[in-house]
Amino acid sequence: MTKLIPVPCFDYVVFGATGDLARRKLMPALYHRLRDGQVLDGSRIVGVSRRDLSDDDYRAMIREALDQFLPEEDKDAETIDSFLGMLRYVAADVGDEAGWPRLKELLEEGADRVRAFYLAVGPDLFTEICAGVGSRGLVTPQTRVVIEKPVGKDLASAEQVNEAVGKVFTEEQVFRIDHYLGKETVQNLMVLRFGNVLYEPLWNSAHVDHVQITVGETIGVGTRGGYYDTSGALRDMVQNHMLQLLCLVAMEPPDSFEANAVRDEKLKILKALKPIAGDNADIVTVRGQYRAGAANGNPAPGYLEEIGKDRSSTETFVALKAEISNWRWAGVPFYLRTGKRLPTRVSEIVVAFKPIPHSIFPKDAGTVEANRLVLRLQPDEGVKQWIMIKDPGPGGMRVRHVPLDMSFADAFKVRHPDAYERLLLDVVRGNQTLFMRRDEVEAAWRWIDPIREAWEASGTPLKPYVAGSWGPSAAIALIERDGRTWHED
Ligand SMILES: NC(=O)c1ccc[n+]([C@@H]2O[C@H](COP(=O)([O-])OP(=O)(O)OC[C@H]3O[C@@H](n4cnc5c(N)ncnc54)[C@H](OP(=O)(O)O)[C@@H]3O)[C@@H](O)[C@H]2O)c1
Repeated sequence: MTKLIPVPCFDYVVFGATGDLARRKLMPALYHRLRDGQVLDGSRIVGVSRRDLSDDDYRAMIREALDQFLPEEDKDAETIDSFLGMLRYVAADVGDEAGWPRLKELLEEGADRVRAFYLAVGPDLFTEICAGVGSRGLVTPQTRVVIEKPVGKDLASAEQVNEAVGKVFTEEQVFRIDHYLGKETVQNLMVLRFGNVLYEPLWNSAHVDHVQITVGETIGVGTRGGYYDTSGALRDMVQNHMLQLLCLVAMEPPDSFEANAVRDEKLKILKALKPIAGDNADIVTVRGQYRAGAANGNPAPGYLEEIGKDRSSTETFVALKAEISNWRWAGVPFYLRTGKRLPTRVSEIVVAFKPIPHSIFPKDAGTVEANRLVLRLQPDEGVKQWIMIKDPGPGGMRVRHVPLDMSFADAFKVRHPDAYERLLLDVVRGNQTLFMRRDEVEAAWRWIDPIREAWEASGTPLKPYVAGSWGPSAAIALIERDGRTWHED
């Protein structure tokens, strides 16, 4: 049984309290932590947004959200009432003076507590909110700020946001969240690598043939079309989630699990990524946009229909081949692909080892496949180590490729917390290990920007793909021309 240690008493101020993120993710996550006994009496959650609501109206809204987003078995009437009791609401337009005094007054009642400002609002408001809390004296030594992605849309804008945040908060107070890092499997990747002696000796170019990272979504852009059309898959997924995963696979062992030790090693990988620019971008990257097709067995519209435009140069799919210029990884490609309207919702990392140097088995024994380690982040978090075994039974020698399968849901009969549950409380604890440091975010943009610029300069049209397929055929060619294939379970 895991021992859960309560966190210090806090005031969590959620800007964007009526939004999708707050209702669907943040409130259910904090509810679960209360239910598990990690939230001390007296802690408060203060919602801030423009809508004119009383505390009780807001509580009614969150009661509905919990009803909608909590699994039936996790609903506990008494805990829901206690949770709603923690809520306060301040109606404020952050660009307007009117609401701030009430927020200040509320927070002064708990001046000694840990105070966290969670910016669950559009990125255009980050600067204004930071300046707002700074100028009104709301930042105490025990204060932290949580910034949702995206931090900027390129290096220049990320620097501007970081600069504005840095005027009010020290870097130790800034928590740039990438919820992928809160997933069990992602942390397990570090435990597999650094808590076992088995993998580390093989974790290099002598034994690893290549790495694949796939983040697939079955959904289209839906109601997020307006935002998405200014962003695209490279900015929305590759710059943050996928590069973070790549860093965790590729980084050198940090000397401890302390935040800066881990982040220093991730940063070295981002800096060692071989630049993709100019004509090379058309060779090692593929970008696509979905046309009408199918999703979950039903007809699905194309991207342009969804966003209501005749044309758009925004990619809803990217595949690329990244390389890391260092001793450990030289010559080992990292293939990344992500897209909307793919056949399955899946996030996984595949470490494909090299084949054996020589087979001693007769030809009719079957093919000796190379080992693969597959870490699945969603939907069913778990680890599969593919190995060769003898096909059981009498008769001649036959070999078979099978997974040693550790599905976390089957292996541990416990509830698997959502990534936000861990991350929200890490903020209160002041633990930044699973959050991105300023230089990491900027280094990621420094690698991403030239890819975008090369795409714009070349004018190569986006490759169409049918909704419900694994992207344009060029994405398959990208890996197959190197004699490899995308992993299929
Ligand atoms: N939704 C997700 O799953 C998700 C996942 C990852 C990252 N994010 C990021 O999280 C942020 C929020 O996303 P969301 O999907 O929750 O957006 P959303 O549903 O549009 O919510 C935005 C929130 O901001 C409030 N707001 C807007 N203007 C305001 C102002 N001037 N002053 C005070 N409050 C204001 C809105 O409430 P009022 O209209 O009542 O003011 C609403 O509560 C975005 O940066 C997004 O990129 C979201």
